[in-house]
Amino acid sequence: MPSYAMDVAPVIQASCTPCHAPGGKESNRLLTTYDGAHANRSPMLNQIHACRMPPSDGPPLTAEGRATLLAWLVCGAPKN
Ligand code: HEC
Repeated sequence: MPSYAMDVAPVIQASCTPCHAPGGKESNRLLTTYDGAHANRSPMLNQIHACRMPPSDGPPLTAEGRATLLAWLVCGAPKN
């Protein structure tokens, strides 16, 4: 089980918060904090599972980063 603090947050920071942060392109869906990510866990799972996020004009998500996010999201996005 990936840890939010150790594993998940750095991946979100690299691949998602360039847009999902205050001042970013999609600032109405903040993923900069645990609460923001937890509140969006279901749509995040859908988007990542379908390879829709990050979009092609965003930073790449590595296969390892994708696996980390999915493993955390399918377990309910715990604060671990
Ligand atoms: C290059 C900018 C950019 C990056 C990087 C990015 N997003 Fe997005 N995201 C958007 C935009 C713009 C939308 C709204 C339009 C759309 O849904 O395509 C969006 C929408 C979403 C939605 C809502 C989709 C829905 O309609 O239910 C989720 C969830 C999401 N992003 C998660 C993520 C996650 C998780 C990452 C990182 C793996 C990420 N995004 C990276 C720009 C970005």
